[in-house]
Amino acid sequence: MHSVIEVSGVRKTYGKTVAVDEASFDVKQGEIFGLIGPNGAGKTTTMECIEGIRKPDRGTIAVLGLDPFRQVYKMQERIGVQLQQAQLQKRIKVWEAVDLWASLYGKKAVDAERLLEQLGLTDKRSAWFMNLSGGQKQRLFIALALINDPEVVFLDELTTGLDPQARHAIWDLVRSIRERGKTVFLTTHLMEEAERLCDRVAIMDHGRIIDIDSPEGLIRRHCPERTVVLTQDYESAGEHFEKIPQVESVIRDNQRFTIRGRGDDLVTEVIHCLSENDIRVTDFRTILPNLEDVFLKLTGRSIRE
Ligand SMILES: Nc1ncnc2c1ncn2[C@@H]1O[C@H](COP(=O)(O)OP(=O)(O)OP(=O)(O)O)[C@@H](O)[C@H]1O
Ligand SMILES: [Mg+2]
Repeated sequence: MHSVIEVSGVRKTYGKTVAVDEASFDVKQGEIFGLIGPNGAGKTTTMECIEGIRKPDRGTIAVLGLDPFRQVYKMQERIGVQLQQAQLQKRIKVWEAVDLWASLYGKKAVDAERLLEQLGLTDKRSAWFMNLSGGQKQRLFIALALINDPEVVFLDELTTGLDPQARHAIWDLVRSIRERGKTVFLTTHLMEEAERLCDRVAIMDHGRIIDIDSPEGLIRRHCPERTVVLTQDYESAGEHFEKIPQVESVIRDNQRFTIRGRGDDLVTEVIHCLSENDIRVTDFRTILPNLEDVFLKLTGRSIRE
């Protein structure tokens, strides 16, 4: 699959602040690519350099083979941008904003009514911008980013401020963008969002990209630990669990056992051991590491700090 975004050795400073430090990565056609990291990591700056809004101090960037500076107009026809902190006139109506945006593009826009419906904004089509809730504004900005049926969509913190239900609806929408063969480049500091939505993620901290892979790949490589917690009342079960090769520790608390080990086989081996020894369990849970654990492992800090 070919790359639609190519970033190589990009550095961007604001005075003494190094916002982006030698960032290099590729985004492939048709994938949802996430840039994740804590506040101030450099995500928005990186994204805005790619969009041609900011000029990097050095490094090269190509979007759809175009230079975001020298070919900015050509590029803008083919991309869609949702900014992290955008504002519109207070008294512009939802449908007017959509109409205005559609008129900015040379090619024919998508079916605006359908787009508003997909984003749950049909009821609000005649509402003023200033009377929309935070989540509705957010959804309007996503609609505006999609109005020109772009090949690449940039979404900065797309679900910040949305309730869980709206968030899931937006995730579905982003997946539907991918299903139509488009490429999505997004930033988030929500690890769950990255894990559920992204095909690949780049982890960014202090302006540097620390690692890039699929969420599963990152978890497998950096956090191979697995934990099984189960409840059973067979007296010598602990001995059986300890014999499983992948097991590193077994902690017992009355009838509850916490079994720790590493590798994807651990869970299967525990289940196998239970069935082989005819051990009946009343509760069985697995605890798997997530991207949050990966970030902690790579940086020594929690992403929320
Ligand atoms: N226009 C600017 N002038 C000066 N410093 C800036 C400017 N924009 C960003 N910065 C600084 O650059 C660094 C990276 O900021 P950036 O907005 O790219 O981070 P981010 O990862 O998007 O953070 P967030 O999760 O809060 O959106 C921060 O230290 C920020 O203070
Ligand atoms: Mg940001």
